[in-house]
Order: sequence, then C-alpha cells, then structure tokens
Amino acid sequence: MSLFTFSAQEMATRSSSLRIGVVGFGHLGQYLVERILTDGATVGLTLAFVWNRNPAKLKGLVPDELQLGDLSSFANRQCDVIVEVCHPQVVKEFGVHFLSCCHFMVGSPSALADHDLNENLHKAARLYGRTLYVPSGALWGGQDIQRLNDSGALKALFIRMSKHPSCFRLTGDVLSEWTEGEGRRVLFRGSVAELCPLAPNNVNTMAAAAVAAGNLGFNGVRGEIVSDTALSDYHVVEVEVTGPDGFSARTVRRNPARLGAVTGSATYNSFWNSLLVCKGHGGRVYLC
Ligand SMILES: NC(=O)c1ccc[n+]([C@@H]2O[C@H](COP(=O)([O-])OP(=O)(O)OC[C@H]3O[C@@H](n4cnc5c(N)ncnc54)[C@H](O)[C@@H]3O)[C@@H](O)[C@H]2O)c1
Repeated sequence: MSLFTFSAQEMATRSSSLRIGVVGFGHLGQYLVERILTDGATVGLTLAFVWNRNPAKLKGLVPDELQLGDLSSFANRQCDVIVEVCHPQVVKEFGVHFLSCCHFMVGSPSALADHDLNENLHKAARLYGRTLYVPSGALWGGQDIQRLNDSGALKALFIRMSKHPSCFRLTGDVLSEWTEGEGRRVLFRGSVAELCPLAPNNVNTMAAAAVAAGNLGFNGVRGEIVSDTALSDYHVVEVEVTGPDGFSARTVRRNPARLGAVTGSATYNSFWNSLLVCKGHGGRVYLC
C-alpha cells in the first residue's frame, strides 16, 4: 500500500462519496483502508479518517491528513459511516457517540452481549435516526434468519464454530493445553451471551446471528465452540434453524483459514461487501 494523491476529477468524485471513518488498524482495518484507497472511487467510498491505538502503525500507510490522533475528536471529521474493527471496549466507550453523528458499523458485535450496551445502542439509533450496522461476517443465511425472526416464526437457533486450536483466542482456561493430532474437543456449549465474554474474538459470527434472531436474543441463541486439529485449512460454521410445524434448515460453511488465523479469509471480502450496504437504513439495527 502506498500514499495516494488525488486529481481534481477524483476530488469531485470524493465529495459525492460516502465518507468512511475506520477505527482500528489491525488485520481487518488495514484490509478495509487499503480497499477504500484503491477501489473506493469506483464504488462511491472515500476515507474520512483512520484511528489506531498505536498511531505509529499508520505512518507511511495512511495519508497524514487522514490520520486521527485522538478518537474523542472524531466528530471534527466529516463522516457518513464509522466502522469499528478494533475491540468490544471501543464499542462500549464510543458506540453511542458515533451514532449521534453518523451511521455505525460494529465490527465487534460480541460487544452487544452486554445487555445494557445493546439497549443503549438500539436507543441511540432510534433517537438520532442513524443505522447501527452489524456485518454478517461468516454467517450464512443471516437475512433468512432475520425474516423468520421478524415474522415471529423463529423457534430456535444453534451455531457451532469449529476451528484448529491455534485459531482460538479464549479468555478462560478451557484450552490452555492442546497437542497436534489430538482431534476434536467441544470447548463450550451454552448461550451466545455466555460465549461472548469467553471467546470475544471468535464468536462475532454468533453475535451477528443473535442480532438477526432478535426475538431469541443473546440468551436464547445457543452456540458451541469446537477445537479440531484436523481443521488446518479452514474453519467450519454450522447453523441450525428451527421454525414452526417441523420446519428446519441446516447450513455448513467452510471458511478457508491459515493455521493460527482467528478470521477466515472469506470474511475480509464479506466485511467489504457489508460496508457497501451502509448507505443509511433509518434509526434501526440492520444486519448487512
Ligand atoms: N464480525 C466478524 O465476523 C468479525 C470477524 C473478525 C474479527 N472481528 C472483530 O473485529 C475486531 C478487529 O479484528 P482484527 O482481526 O482486525 O483484529 P487485530 O487484532 O488484527 O486488530 C485489532 C486492532 O485493534 C487494536 N486494539 C486491540 N484492543 C484494543 C483496545 N482495547 N482499545 C483500542 N484498540 C485496541 C489493536 O492494537 C489492533 O490495531 C476484533 O474485535 C475482532 O473480534 C469480527
């Protein structure tokens, strides 16, 4: 990635584009920033700012005028959508402020397992008429789940995420030791509300499902995380949906992923496609 200069024509295109603020410059942040800088003009997106906890990481990769030093001053930059790709704590501290100024795509939806924060973000979206976007990430069929939920027909939802043990980042000691070749081990089974604090970086897909299944919520949607040393090339996401009168649907998604990768490679493109949807859907929460 290199620094960019813009022609007069490109500047005109920029002014009619959606201005995106990116909060976080890790794997996802760098991917999104690079795509906005290279492809943004063709899809109507421009970069408003980039913030990172360690600003030194931005040097030489993000034009100086687009680097934001202090996140509290984000409102000084004109912005249409802020994308958080950072940490649930930042959602907690800034989510409502972001929504008071612009639409907000929450890249760490496991933050919404905190009931009060979830409520406050819903309220802020309604109050300010701005959309809280939740990217579907590695969730397959999220819109179908949401439709079933909205019609009152969703009875149960279960998601199992299976990964190589090197791909888990857990806060507890459920996977303190493992050996190559040990095979399959169920690490935890319970509500998504219980899973989110245990595996905040691994269960964002489940959190997106809990948002889609709003009537069941984080306490009603069930999840399971499985360590499997056979999964050296991909993560597996299985979704089981139960509706009325014997209705059920089951999907199995294989998400290519390197050893040690928390995020499957297809999820990066999925995030980009989600960002393209964030054009404003009113004061509500929207799975994109
Ligand atoms: N929705 C999804 O499907 C999905 C998929 C992958 C990752 N995620 C989430 O998106 C976020 C970013 O993912 P990533 O793969 O880019 O992670 P990463 O670890 O590569 O980057 C995270 C960045 O945020 C910074 N950071 C970490 N903790 C912070 C804190 N408390 N305050 C401020 N900055 C902090 C890090 O320094 C780093 O620059 C994570 O929360 C991750 O769980 C969501």
